[in-house]
Amino acid sequence: MRAVGYGSGLVSGRRARPAQQPMMQSNRQLRYHLTTFGCQMNEHDSERMKGMLESLGYAEADRRSEADLILFNTCSIRETADSRFIAHLGEARRLKRESPERVVGVGGCWAQSVKEEVFERFPFVDVAFGPGQVNKLAEFLTSDSLTAQGYFEFEGFTGRLPARRERPFQGWVQISVGCNCACSYCIVPSTRGREVSRPLAELVAEVEAMAVDGVKEVTLLGQNVNSYGRDLPSGPSPAVAAAAGRREGASFAELLRLLDGIDGIERIRYTSPHPKDMREDVVRAHAELASVCEHIHLPLQSSSSRILKAMRRTYDRARYMDRVAMIREHVPDASLSTDIIVGFPGETDEDFEETLEVVEEVVYDSAFTFMFSPRRGTEAAEITAGLVEHPIKVQRMARLLELVQRGARERAQRFVGRTLEVLVEGPSRTDPDRLRGRTRHNKVVNFAGLACAGELTDVEILAATSQTLAGEERLLARAAV
Ligand code: SAH
Ligand code: SF4
Ligand code: F3S
Repeated sequence: MRAVGYGSGLVSGRRARPAQQPMMQSNRQLRYHLTTFGCQMNEHDSERMKGMLESLGYAEADRRSEADLILFNTCSIRETADSRFIAHLGEARRLKRESPERVVGVGGCWAQSVKEEVFERFPFVDVAFGPGQVNKLAEFLTSDSLTAQGYFEFEGFTGRLPARRERPFQGWVQISVGCNCACSYCIVPSTRGREVSRPLAELVAEVEAMAVDGVKEVTLLGQNVNSYGRDLPSGPSPAVAAAAGRREGASFAELLRLLDGIDGIERIRYTSPHPKDMREDVVRAHAELASVCEHIHLPLQSSSSRILKAMRRTYDRARYMDRVAMIREHVPDASLSTDIIVGFPGETDEDFEETLEVVEEVVYDSAFTFMFSPRRGTEAAEITAGLVEHPIKVQRMARLLELVQRGARERAQRFVGRTLEVLVEGPSRTDPDRLRGRTRHNKVVNFAGLACAGELTDVEILAATSQTLAGEERLLARAAV
């Protein structure tokens, strides 16, 4: 069997791999096992990888030991991400030693960040590819070449590969790849390349097709989603516009408006936006468009304007707070979440206190908090002055978490007594007799009810903690009266 349509390109020869290629074992179905690390972008890429492998005739194996093809989709955002993945590689090495005809593949951001070094450090790896080269995995698996290969160009969108959705009613849409920002701590621009947006007509067509397939909630993905479209021509592009009767590019707010018009799409989410591009038209879209959810992720990172400058975030505390005020003005009930880094080089106690002040002032519904981790090739990894010692980072993290949780608990109380629309995801993780779902505010709700996964139902909220809400499906609540 040979795959067509996945492109062709760079081949860099290395050591020979065993002659028994997976595609030659035609007497039984070949199986793959894929482990995913990192962000939603990686989870999306993994779904596409699965779709691509299944179109090549592979089936998913439950365990690595049962797989002909062992794959990892890696992340390198912090050191902990690297070590988590490397710990898993040990089992792949052992399995490969036991049966050398197995193929071991490493994709994603870690592979991209070390490139050819993958093979020097882990000689049992057969194929390595960056996030921009997922399609090359198919080329490798179907080639007659017996050499290990590395593919590290930036080209194409994984969003164009066949989809395999984990949940039939929720789907990811890759609206852009790469990042043109230069945040001094961040490895992503080097692992995902320059920002490239997908043409508008292609995205609209993809979401229309998803709606026909039964998808109710879409999450638009990009490293900086709200700078969508800046690299596209805004006038009609002969090829795409003629086919779809629409322009090739648009602003992010226009994209939201077009997607909101698609029948069957009940909820639109997106991640991650950058505060610098959070303009009024995007905020208004949350207030005006029925499907755009009342949740905005607004990564803060730090509130010390001095540290923000060193991070190259291109906003200061005042500009960030202006964005928060704009959100609160137009969508007062919106939930706000954020990302914060503690212990960036040079962060003093005073700088950290400023971060606490903003956290206290904004009162986030949730926050992802990270200790600064120097990443290879980044500007911040070169800073030698003012490094924050680990115990200080730990202390700051504890104080920050406490404040975040207190705020989240406080914010969540506004939901108690209200009836909220919940998209049911399945049974509750803590109690299989209850259901679990998500509100438009992106709050997890565990509730008593009879609805099925994929249904939208009304849930009366009875209690709230910093993390989750608890409630009862409306129909049940009425029946009990
Ligand atoms: N493009 C997205 C996501 C970036 S990665 C965005 O800009 O929001 C997710 C989060 O990881 C970042 O927002 C940041 O808070 C954190 N992060 C990135 N690099 C880091 C590093 N070197 N050390 C600690 N945290 C980091
Ligand atoms: Fe990294 Fe900054 Fe780009 Fe986000 S916006 S991916 S933090 S460089
Ligand atoms: Fe990790 Fe790459 Fe995402 S480094 S956080 S998988 S963009």
